[in-house]
Amino acid sequence: MATQLTDPFARKFFYLRLSITDVCNFRCTYCLPNGYKPGGVTNKGFLSLEEIRRVTRAFSAMGTEKVRLTGGEPSLRRDFTDIIAAVRENHAIRQLAVTTNGYRLARDVAHWRDAGLTAINVSVDSLDARQFFAITGQDKFKQVMDGIDAAFAAGFEKVKVNTVLMRDVNHHQLDTFLSWIKPRPIQLRFIELMETGEGSDLFRKHHISGDVLRGELLKRGWIQKLRSRSDGPAQVFCHPDYAGEIGLIMPYEKDFCASCNRLRVSSVGKLHLCLFGDGGVDLRDLLQDDNQQAALEARIAASLAHKKQTHFLHQGNTGITQNLSYIGG
Ligand code: GTP
Ligand code: 5AD
Ligand code: SF4
Repeated sequence: MATQLTDPFARKFFYLRLSITDVCNFRCTYCLPNGYKPGGVTNKGFLSLEEIRRVTRAFSAMGTEKVRLTGGEPSLRRDFTDIIAAVRENHAIRQLAVTTNGYRLARDVAHWRDAGLTAINVSVDSLDARQFFAITGQDKFKQVMDGIDAAFAAGFEKVKVNTVLMRDVNHHQLDTFLSWIKPRPIQLRFIELMETGEGSDLFRKHHISGDVLRGELLKRGWIQKLRSRSDGPAQVFCHPDYAGEIGLIMPYEKDFCASCNRLRVSSVGKLHLCLFGDGGVDLRDLLQDDNQQAALEARIAASLAHKKQTHFLHQGNTGITQNLSYIGG
């Protein structure tokens, strides 16, 4: 029986978010407004396939059941399909998900599924092609929509879509988004805009509190579901007339961190205990040889003693220092 990673607040961590690159070809206004700049995180390069194999083997031995590959844009890695297969060599990892901007979905999603991918989250911030371009810097709305269709065609029964609703930008599209998921088994997640180092101005102008969105959903007859272990911090809503569901991700809410079930490893091998404001524990020196697994597990387990109860954002702590492409959101 695998050990189970637990922190001082009795939270159990069975979910690893593994960033495999911080490179992205989109330039979302709230994340990489000026586009990706090479050399951002390190000159050592991103984790190799072997290092990824070792880190996921260690987490799997410590009770991890779900891994999410993130970025930057994870599918820009040429060895992305090999990475999927390597993570799934760990039989305890029963769920392997990706968070993607959707750019490569139409072309590759069937291969990813064959290699062992089990779930997909795609970012779609507008259902209007021109606005999609304005927000992401890429004129790829149709390609991303075709990608979502391709994911269903490849056999994914549900797809999650992430949308950052922003005041005076795409908030007015709320009802368009709701109509879109009426016939589709999509879990559409409205993510509250988070403040990043570069994004303070944007945050001040466009942040909408998750509470406002919750009110708007309740007014339209959406019903909040009981929280399940797999929801993590998302609050999920359903509606009898809709095939799709809504997830609300509201990081500024007081109890957001109580249901935290995830740890993060960055694309250069640092363990991050929280999305907000920890420097990270370097694991890379222990990813160089299979014989280091016991030491690696010991370092991961010891680090958990330092996980804080909450990010304290609701008490005025300013958020993260970098954009989310760095540790994968
Ligand atoms: P599931 O694994 O399907 O539950 O999705 P997820 O919400 O964990 O994954 P996804 O990569 O789609 O993340 C959606 C958004 O939620 C991103 O903007 C993340 O930054 C944000 N998010 C995910 N986990 C956390 C967290 O622990 N804290 C905060 N503040 N935001 C998070
Ligand atoms: N605030 C909220 N969500 C963000 N994302 C990236 N940056 C931010 C931010 N500042 C989201 C993207 C993507 C997910 C991985 O992270 O919309 O769906
Ligand atoms: Fe790229 Fe995702 Fe950041 Fe957009 S939010 S720039 S798609 S990493």
